[in-house]
Amino acid sequence: MSTALNWTGKDASFALGRALEQQSRLGEGPRFLRDGATYVPGSHENMLVVGDNLPGLTALLATHRGRVKVVYIDPPYNTGNALAYKDHGHDHASWLNFMTPRLMLARELMRDDGVIFIHLDDGESAWAQLLGHEIFGEENSLGTLIHQRAKGGGNSPSFVRGHDYVHVWAKAADQAGAFLTDKKAPAKLEIIDGKRMLVETDVLRAGFGRYARGQERRLMYEDILEVKGAKKLAEVDAKLASGEFMLKPWGGGKHAVVRVTPAEKASSKLYSIIKALGGQNDLEDLGLGGIFSYPKPVELVKTLVASQTFFDPEAIVLDFFAGSGTTAQAVMEANRRDGGARKFILIQTPEPLRSTNARSLVDADPDAGFPEISRLTAERIRRAARRLDPELSFTEIAVAEE
Ligand SMILES: C[S@@+](CC[C@H](N)C(=O)[O-])C[C@H]1O[C@@H](n2cnc3c(N)ncnc32)[C@H](O)[C@@H]1O
Repeated sequence: MSTALNWTGKDASFALGRALEQQSRLGEGPRFLRDGATYVPGSHENMLVVGDNLPGLTALLATHRGRVKVVYIDPPYNTGNALAYKDHGHDHASWLNFMTPRLMLARELMRDDGVIFIHLDDGESAWAQLLGHEIFGEENSLGTLIHQRAKGGGNSPSFVRGHDYVHVWAKAADQAGAFLTDKKAPAKLEIIDGKRMLVETDVLRAGFGRYARGQERRLMYEDILEVKGAKKLAEVDAKLASGEFMLKPWGGGKHAVVRVTPAEKASSKLYSIIKALGGQNDLEDLGLGGIFSYPKPVELVKTLVASQTFFDPEAIVLDFFAGSGTTAQAVMEANRRDGGARKFILIQTPEPLRSTNARSLVDADPDAGFPEISRLTAERIRRAARRLDPELSFTEIAVAEE
């Protein structure tokens, strides 16, 4: 017996996704506007698209089909708070109908080695996971990360709720590669020849098993031949010659063999539980606190972006539920870390900002305030760039529906 996720409107949602995708192949459908004129974006520029992401993603296909390495989205949850989405109703079926064509278009935009991170709380997590399996293929599911977002708090009657979920799919599971992060202890950072290098002193061991406290477990260079033989010595000599290994005086006239790696290239595999608190603080740091509810922490999104672009510093990153623009700042921070040139594409509707703080800023100065979320997104990008990448340029465009 087969199993399937079904809901009212499913067939029509898939048909819509296919039709929009086809429209773009035929060179029809929505296009971008900049200052009122048609705009065709370059394939490698930072962009903020202001408008509904359904025509936005469709328009993007013309120039970016198969070019996006990382998609991160934090879609409106089914709480009725997300106003743009609320217009569509708020039950599981309408959430699935809302998401289906958007995820189909996102998949078309992804590179063959691309990945998508979908960040959700308990409300839609289970539904979204099944929907994701259907769109990306269960065989391309890479699992679910846990984002620990708070130490306490939350108002659930059952638990103190401090985490949510990040479901991950690849366009093709065998092409995405490992998710990497900066290497942590036991390695040590040292400056060698003016460069930050990670130094691991524990690369050669005298034997396996437990060591008594105080007993040296490292195999000294001078003892390799006797303990491990000529082949091992030749291997180590080759790595010493290539610069991957170095010798470090270790007492008694002997030398430890240490591995040295440029700090920005030293990686470990990402752990599936990621702790990152306080997205509101990131906005406060930029003088934009208290205007937008529940921004995600930059640190989390930076970790996710970097994990799939560790050795791909020119990659394109897409977030089509941009909110306050966390993903743009995360891309800037990932670039700052390794001197990279990753680009961001953000899409955000000009949905009114309704917080008291946002309204009082508009009342005080309509030109400087933030009547719409997309205005805040743009200002956040400018302020983050001033701090992290003063040379950064980004194009603000709108979507024109035919
Ligand atoms: C949960 S928030 C994302 C917050 C974001 N991750 C951050 O850190 O600030 C979801 C955002 O999606 C936007 N949104 C909802 N429906 C949309 C649509 N159809 N097109 C574009 N943006 C939409 C909402 O206005 C809201 O800003």
